[in-house]
Formats: sequence, structure tokens, C-alpha cells
Amino acid sequence: MAFCKLLLTVLVLLHNSGLLGNEVRSSIIGAEDAQKERWPWMVHLNMTSSGSNRVKWRCGGTIVAKHWVLTSAHCLANNPDHRRSFVTVGAYQLQKAAKSYMAIANFVPEFDYQDLGNGNYKNDIALIKLKNPIQFSKDVAPVDLPDKDDTFGPSAECWITGWGEVGNVPLPDPETLQQLSISIMPRSTCKKTYPQIACNTLCGANSKGRDACKGNYGGPLVCRKGGKFLQVGIMSHGSPGSCGLANNPGVYTAVAKYLNFINDYVHFSENPSAFLYCKVTAS
Ligand SMILES: *[C@@H]1O[C@H](CO)[C@@H](O)[C@H](O)[C@H]1NC(C)=O
Repeated sequence: MAFCKLLLTVLVLLHNSGLLGNEVRSSIIGAEDAQKERWPWMVHLNMTSSGSNRVKWRCGGTIVAKHWVLTSAHCLANNPDHRRSFVTVGAYQLQKAAKSYMAIANFVPEFDYQDLGNGNYKNDIALIKLKNPIQFSKDVAPVDLPDKDDTFGPSAECWITGWGEVGNVPLPDPETLQQLSISIMPRSTCKKTYPQIACNTLCGANSKGRDACKGNYGGPLVCRKGGKFLQVGIMSHGSPGSCGLANNPGVYTAVAKYLNFINDYVHFSENPSAFLYCKVTAS
């Protein structure tokens, strides 16, 4: 851990001094600018840690309901301060005006989230509750979730989106949302690369080294079913300690395995009267 931090610091210093050059310029390796309004559920998480050191980092996330954003639990692992962190909705180019900042009420990681080491996470899913409801519009809307039995294989049309970076090289101004078409890899193939892979995950093939990287984690993997996209995965991690290495698939939390976790919070909070049916009355 200490070594990783040191390495990161060295890389940041190298980057700031310009020694790494400018050759890598896309946030998600191999990606292209997204079409505007195509991914209206996409949010940016601007995180700042608690305490005096104020570490900053970014993640992706998605709108699942008026008060709720879905992301990965490891995006919450650095002890973010909910008063200093915020969610940006309706953004296309992060450095341009049209967007709103939403204050955070609290963070809800999955109760059995675990960092298994080597960049491998178990139950890497979390919800963020917003203080105020999101106003939906043509470029701000909730994502649809899969049914628990939906499965998506290598032939499904799937995409990842994000504003993250590659190896400490940030997306250049005005930071336009990136999209990348990706296909789901059979689990048996994925297990050959990651024998220890956590349950309830999906692997995205990246044969040309196309991958999600730092700052994109927590963002969505969506796949087409009929006429619409469903959020099938959450970007969890790439190759251990790296990303975009050919033959090292990106790993995604399988959203369909966590519908109870999502519904327990989101459904009851958006429909308070539903509590009436399961309230235990003392007699
Ligand atoms: C994130 O928040 C900081 C202030 O805490 C701000 O300086 C920075 O521009 C923000 N980044 C984005 C992409 O909104």
C-alpha cells in the first residue's frame, strides 16, 4: 500500500513535470467522444477525503432514482467527506456550464464489501444518497436495471462511458465524456486470467488493450436489450495495478446480482408508504 502511494506520487510528480509526455490522450483507452444526451444517467463523482490532508479523486456513477446514485464501493474507500464531495449530473463536457452539482446526504457501501488485495474487490457496489432530488430532463435521466435472470454474452452490444484518465494522464479540456464499445467475455476465459476473481462479476474483453482506467471506476457497463440500454455492470477494476494491458479484461460488478441491495434502499426511500407494509408493530 505504502509502495503504491509512493509510486503514485512519483507518477504525479513526473506527470506534473511533463516528463511522461502527452502521447496518451483518451480517458478510456481506445475510446471516442460520446454523443451528447446518449447516456443521460452518467454522473461524475468529485470526491474529497475527510481529515486535513484533503485527498481528491474522481469516479463515475449512474442515476438510479431521484435521490440515488449507483457506483462502486471502492470509490468510497478513501473515507470521503460527504460535505466536501459532490455529484455532477447533466454533464457532457466537465469544464462547460450545462450541469448541476448535487450535495450528498450519505454513502451506502454494500455491507459485505471487501478489498481482496491485488486490485480485486468483492461486492464492489455502493449507493450514494443525495440531499435533494434530481430534476430529470432529456439529458438527465435514470438508467434501467436488468432483471435478475437477464444474461448478456459476447454477442450483446455493450458500452462503457467515463471521464477518467489513463496512467495519470487526465482527459484534456473540455473533458468530453468518452464512450467505448466493449464485449462481455465468457467467465471461463476470464478465469484463466483472474483465477481468484470475485463472485458476481463480469469481464469485458479488451483484446486491443481497450479498457477502463483510473477515474472511470464506478461508471456503468450498459448493454442493449430490445430498444434500450440496461446497466449490466459497474466498472470495478482492470488488470492488477494497471489497466489497458492486452489480454487483461476489465472486471465489472454484475448489477443483476445486487437488485435486492439496490431495491432495499432505493425503493423504500422513494416510496415511503411502502414501509407501512413491513413495519413491525409492538403489541
Ligand atoms: C472538483 O472539485 C474541486 C473542488 O473541490 C474543483 O476544484 C474541481 O474543478 C472539481 N472538478 C470537476 C471535474 O468538477
